[in-house]
Amino acid sequence: MRRKVIAGNWKMHNDLKQSEVLINSLKNLLKDKSINCDVIVCPPFTSLTEASKLISGSIIKLGAQNMHFEDKGAFTGEISSSMLKSTGCEFVILGHSERRTIFKENDIIINAKIKKAIEYGLKPILCIGETLEQREKEVTKDIVKQQVEIGLEGISAEQMKNIIIAYEPVWAIGTGKTATPEQAQEVHQFIRSLIETKYSKSVSESLVIQYGGSVKPENANELLSQKDIDGALVGGACLNADSFYGIIKES
Ligand code: 13P
Repeated sequence: MRRKVIAGNWKMHNDLKQSEVLINSLKNLLKDKSINCDVIVCPPFTSLTEASKLISGSIIKLGAQNMHFEDKGAFTGEISSSMLKSTGCEFVILGHSERRTIFKENDIIINAKIKKAIEYGLKPILCIGETLEQREKEVTKDIVKQQVEIGLEGISAEQMKNIIIAYEPVWAIGTGKTATPEQAQEVHQFIRSLIETKYSKSVSESLVIQYGGSVKPENANELLSQKDIDGALVGGACLNADSFYGIIKES
């Protein structure tokens, strides 16, 4: 049985003070509750160190939203995996659709980042998903297959134990349009079958595959009760402690 993982991707929201307020509110809501899932928060880089101190002693785990694929060097404005490690980060979101579309990251770059993250003991959350145009052209599975195959190129079965995949249909991100539970389940099952073919049944059965795209307390239950949906990567709804907690409660 896979344990569900609910992660909050704060994106470019919350300065230091706002980050403190949000984490403290979430900590209060989670205190003394029996929670059936893992909870991750992914604040912006500038709040990671403070967030790491604030979550200490709680069930909340820490992730970053991106990193560079080199160890260090002349890469103005970039952040390395060892820098993330030094803040107390355990996870890192890689290949988010906003990175792919706005910052032109491709599957090869994302693969290099995945490898570097693993080398430094960070656990990648690899984001994949099709655009609306691709869904309408009925090439969703081809796109997802390419993102999985190139994104995980050179990753061993052993290393897969530390990887999460997040299926985030681009058309459902920040739009209020959620994939139906059936649409999401179909792609999740397909992703799991790709992993089984590439690795083995046991690797595919242990892999956590999150769904992301307009997840909120009202739709979390029907999505999370699908067989192959093992959690959520939440954007907008994680910026409010009550609504993020509302999703956590549904797992
Ligand atoms: P929304 O939940 O705001 O649609 O964002 C999803 C997302 O991009 C999480 O990474």
